[in-house]
Amino acid sequence: MLKFHLNRKNTIVIIIGGGALGDSVHFVGASLLRGLDVIRIPTTLLSMVDSSVGGKVGINSRKLKNMIGSFAQPKAVFCDANFLLTLTKKELMSGYAEVLKHALIFDKNLFETLEKNIDIWQNDLSNKLDWLHEIIAKNIQIKYHFIKDDEYDLLGLRAILNFGHTVGHAIEKAEGLNYSHGEAVAMGMYVEAKIAQDLGLLPFEITNRIKNHLQKTNLWNLEFLKVNPEYLISLMSNDKKAESDSIIKLNEFYCKETLPIVCLTDIGVAHLNPNVKFDIILKYLNNL
Ligand SMILES: NC(=O)c1ccc[n+]([C@@H]2O[C@H](COP(=O)([O-])OP(=O)(O)OC[C@H]3O[C@@H](n4cnc5c(N)ncnc54)[C@H](O)[C@@H]3O)[C@@H](O)[C@H]2O)c1
Ligand SMILES: [Zn+2]
Repeated sequence: MLKFHLNRKNTIVIIIGGGALGDSVHFVGASLLRGLDVIRIPTTLLSMVDSSVGGKVGINSRKLKNMIGSFAQPKAVFCDANFLLTLTKKELMSGYAEVLKHALIFDKNLFETLEKNIDIWQNDLSNKLDWLHEIIAKNIQIKYHFIKDDEYDLLGLRAILNFGHTVGHAIEKAEGLNYSHGEAVAMGMYVEAKIAQDLGLLPFEITNRIKNHLQKTNLWNLEFLKVNPEYLISLMSNDKKAESDSIIKLNEFYCKETLPIVCLTDIGVAHLNPNVKFDIILKYLNNL
């Protein structure tokens, strides 16, 4: 890009692609010349409903997820559901996990709409573009609700968007597993819902409804149970959101004593529990 003699007045970076490309190239755009204007044209469901909006941009290094990056808002984001027609069902459903997350943390009506239309995603989407645009717009509104007063993630308001991610990031990072971001978050949401159930916050019927939803949308995947649960807890402890200073040793792994878990209390209602004791999470990983 430097070879093109860019300057800030005559340059706008237009990124057409999924979340990985968007996060990394937007980071380049935000860094070059201390910040070029960027327009995002997301081409995956995940990047339309989640990663293109909110302003978090960056790259992963081999050991660290989401630790190298910046906040940079795009000048505009244009979503066209036609792009979704060429996605594999696996990639489509990876994005669907974030759609489901938005419904579970904030919007019972959206969850009921998704339940009623649960078969749509596995079939031909070409005659459903208007409906898809409505769903995408609704999701962007929900994300906006959580970030508008906490753009730089300082006040804890954005933390609710992390539902499923404390466990999900660990599943995504664990060596020997083959989960996309959304697939890992989907199972992370289930484990975190189970934790809320164990804490007496969420009725069993709702956890079961979430399980049924994940099964019917091909997001139910228990492969993560083959890795050592203590290893998973140690990966959760490396997450930058895990703030506890108290470190314990679980066999060969170092772990934080408490971890942040977003707890559902109903469909559409969530709060952050910043200090869930590791042994509650371990119990579920051992007994799922
Ligand atoms: N910044 C944020 O707030 C945020 C939020 C959520 C996720 N993320 C990040 O987003 C990334 C995942 O993004 P993703 O799910 O878009 O995956 P991705 O960018 O890896 O794209 C998935 C695959 O789909 C292909 N693809 C893209 N558009 C296509 C299309 N229209 N038709 C056919 N194939 C297409 C890509 O080439 C790629 O192989 C992860 O790195 C995750 O950490 C960031
Ligand atoms: Zn996510």
